[in-house]
Amino acid sequence: MSLILRDVRKTYKDPKELIVFEKLNLNIETGEIVAIIGPSGSGKTTLLNIIGLIDKVDEGEVYVFQKNVSSMTEEELANFRNENVGFIFQLPHLIEELTVFENTIIPSMIRDKFLTKEVKRRAIKLLEYVEVLDKNDNFPSEISGGEKRRVEIARALVNNPKIIIADEPTSNLDPNLKFSIMSLFKKINKDFGTTIVFSTHDYDLLEYANKVFKIENRTLVALKFQV
Ligand SMILES: Nc1ncnc2c1ncn2[C@@H]1O[C@H](COP(=O)(O)OP(=O)(O)OP(=O)(O)O)[C@@H](O)[C@H]1O
Ligand SMILES: [Mg+2]
Repeated sequence: MSLILRDVRKTYKDPKELIVFEKLNLNIETGEIVAIIGPSGSGKTTLLNIIGLIDKVDEGEVYVFQKNVSSMTEEELANFRNENVGFIFQLPHLIEELTVFENTIIPSMIRDKFLTKEVKRRAIKLLEYVEVLDKNDNFPSEISGGEKRRVEIARALVNNPKIIIADEPTSNLDPNLKFSIMSLFKKINKDFGTTIVFSTHDYDLLEYANKVFKIENRTLVALKFQV
């Protein structure tokens, strides 16, 4: 089992208390593609931040690869996240002052502190894999929105994570582009066995998932369950 949430409660305290999740349960198995659907404000980003160990729960347990997250120190958590989780944020998150190549190697630089030959080779292979190698030396302002997404996917893969979490990965992309990005996730899942969790409000994307959960009444309802 790759990830378990048990009876999770999550609230925001400011500006006034807001209960986002109550008694929320979720099991994600290794190698699955899981979609989280829900309207704006339902809690998709909050849930993915919890799954991606960026945010903490108020109550309940989070287990990732059999480890209880609450028993880990901040440093352990940061290292664990950097090695196991590739995150693709809802808003593009590339550093404008760095090239496509430099952006791609950030997670490895955080881990290793310097650029190894192996990481350089891997980053180039990944940029080729996501079909943006020709934009290697470009800055983010010099590539398209779809290409930015692809660079973010290469960056998410650079440390060879077990799970990729993508928060509305196709928002702001035209229909052709959105299907090509989803096909890329499917290919990554098949080629590397990476578990993929993505959020969306677009029902067209659900065909790419083995499991679909909808956020409803502060919890998750299973819409599709293919084992
Ligand atoms: N840091 C925060 N502090 C207080 N409230 C927050 C915070 N982040 C989110 N919220 C609130 O929590 C609820 C869930 O927000 P969240 O961003 O998870 O929704 P979402 O489903 O991702 O929405 P969208 O589709 O617009 O991205 C919303 O009501 C939002 O206003
Ligand atoms: Mg969101």
